[in-house]
Amino acid sequence: MHHRPTTVLNLTELADWLLEHHGDTVDADRLPAIRSELEQLGARQSPGAVVELGCYQGAMALWMRAVLDATGQRDRHVHVYDSFQGLPERGSRDPELFEAGYLRAEPGQVLALHARWGRTPPTIHPGWFTDTLPAQLPETIAFAYLDGDYYDSIHTCLSVCVPRMTPGGTLIVDDYADLEANRQAWNGLPGVKAACEDYFDAPSPLEVISGAGDLAFGRYTAPVAGGG
Ligand SMILES: C[S@@+](CC[C@H](N)C(=O)[O-])C[C@H]1O[C@@H](n2cnc3c(N)ncnc32)[C@H](O)[C@@H]1O
Repeated sequence: MHHRPTTVLNLTELADWLLEHHGDTVDADRLPAIRSELEQLGARQSPGAVVELGCYQGAMALWMRAVLDATGQRDRHVHVYDSFQGLPERGSRDPELFEAGYLRAEPGQVLALHARWGRTPPTIHPGWFTDTLPAQLPETIAFAYLDGDYYDSIHTCLSVCVPRMTPGGTLIVDDYADLEANRQAWNGLPGVKAACEDYFDAPSPLEVISGAGDLAFGRYTAPVAGGG
């Protein structure tokens, strides 16, 4: 009889299950990319919380919890934020791709997903980012995953999150498509990169992360004081 470490087994099983049941938001590039970020965080042991801004039904939040548990970071807390009313009205920089209210989820779905896999649920902060983030985002953030799809949403998230990043902490912006750096990237939500360029003052300091498919991920790393 073979004994495999349960954490490895659980992550493989969980990834397969998420790809089958939550393939609308997580995919075979996103899961290993986020896993890698959290493994590096564990190795650095930087203080701070993990946050997801735009959590929908909680698929990536569950994956982040499972990876944290598997990498000696059980004490690192996860906070998630979502309107739970779906997407807001699009702005002038966003494409006519989705109706307002698309991707509406319930906090109970996030809780049920974690319960199904026996995982500690995240702290759930329902509401529009402008209303929740300023008072409810943790003071120290080690890792942030921004997945709010639209220009205004991403700009708000950066404005509140970046000043709270722990030195060396990382922030991933989903749907950040820089076609010069990665020709395969899905460029369906160009407001996301525009918000990054406006917030950081172009050219944006985000590094592009690519995968096997059309992953569009940008990574910001918070500066380490005296590190230069
Ligand atoms: C693509 S989904 C997130 C998917 C999720 N990260 C996952 O991996 O399963 C985008 C979410 O962002 C939320 N959202 C977008 N803009 C928002 C805003 N300004 N305030 C609150 N939630 C917002 C939407 O409600 C939606 O659920």
